[in-house]
Amino acid sequence: MADLFKRCRDYTASNDAKAMGFYPYFLTISDSEGTEVIIDGKPRLMLGSNNYLGLTTHPKVREAAAAAIHQFGTSCSGSRFLNGTLVLHEMLEERLAGFLRKEAAAVLTTGYQTNLAMLGALMQRDDVAVMDISNHASIYEGVMISRCRIRRYEHLNVTGCEEILAGIKPEKSTAIITDGVFSMEGDLAPLPELAELKRRFGTRLIVDDAHGLGTMGATGRGTAEHFGVEDDVDIVSGTFSKSFASLGGVVAGPAAVIDYIKHHGRSLIYSASMTPPAVAAALASLDLMENDPEPRERLHANVRRMREGLVQLGFKVGTAETPVLPVYVGEEMRMLAFWKTLLEHGVYTNAVLPPAVAPDDTLIRTSFMASHSNEQIDRALDAFATVGKMANLI
Ligand SMILES: Cc1ncc(COP(=O)(O)O)c(C=O)c1O
Repeated sequence: MADLFKRCRDYTASNDAKAMGFYPYFLTISDSEGTEVIIDGKPRLMLGSNNYLGLTTHPKVREAAAAAIHQFGTSCSGSRFLNGTLVLHEMLEERLAGFLRKEAAAVLTTGYQTNLAMLGALMQRDDVAVMDISNHASIYEGVMISRCRIRRYEHLNVTGCEEILAGIKPEKSTAIITDGVFSMEGDLAPLPELAELKRRFGTRLIVDDAHGLGTMGATGRGTAEHFGVEDDVDIVSGTFSKSFASLGGVVAGPAAVIDYIKHHGRSLIYSASMTPPAVAAALASLDLMENDPEPRERLHANVRRMREGLVQLGFKVGTAETPVLPVYVGEEMRMLAFWKTLLEHGVYTNAVLPPAVAPDDTLIRTSFMASHSNEQIDRALDAFATVGKMANLI
């Protein structure tokens, strides 16, 4: 028979990139203080994390996680469905339903699994998922599991979405599904326009707000709050691996829908639940988010300082006011060289390559934390200035 492993031996792209010295993935962090990390024995400024509110090292979050280990141990050793529901999970669900102004919420082990459970349960073979082409991989996988029909519109293109909806027979069940803040470019879904389409066509609106929860809106309730359309969003999903300084995911919406997902979502039923310290860290982060707007304000001030500095230097950057700030570099090898030289100058960023972006429109993804200081942002700008000039980008 043909050897199943042949394709692995034939795969050389990662080793080729390593040989050329341009491999940007799986870099080992040997120590971390949040904004500063050690890579290859040297300190680097972290401009590539999703720890937006800087809470992973907050004393209250650390203490809550440690206390949960003391009370409940390190793992639930089972799924929510059976032995893995602690009073902590239920407390977090109740608090999140309130925070997100939905009837109910369910928490799962990761944000990725949340989208699999939500979409795999809700959508069925005859339904149509109408999606932004740049939606996150977990949304794609969720709708693929459901085997529903997938219709994609060009990134942020409301007219494209409208044309698709207009062509769907009214007897079909449908949903518009979009990221709130898109993870690579940091741009915002046009939620007010999508909400209008949702109302006009009588469909449902589902928003994955992984990057928006805690960072967007006057009180951190996310992209829908930012645009004032919370009531139009039927279901919100999100993750605890970003602003919530933990690991896990949430889906919030009408009580009947959440109950249905809890009883049909395979990645919820057949996978162990969030660990006690993970739930406790998310709860402690939610407390901080609800009671102190300062980290959110500080985060946005940091992104503004960086954006203004990069624009002044002559870089082409994203314009959306979110914690993700892309710096457009162009052709792939040029971007990888730029990324590597930045790292050598002490700044860690994320290299974003095709298929996540077009081959001649690659970007360096920078993302910010409330805990970055002005001195750190200015240090990052100095590195961008030096490396940008070396690369003839500015
Ligand atoms: C838009 C979006 N949805 C879902 C996820 C998955 O979240 P998690 O890391 O909790 O699995 C991510 C994480 O990168 C994301 O960016």
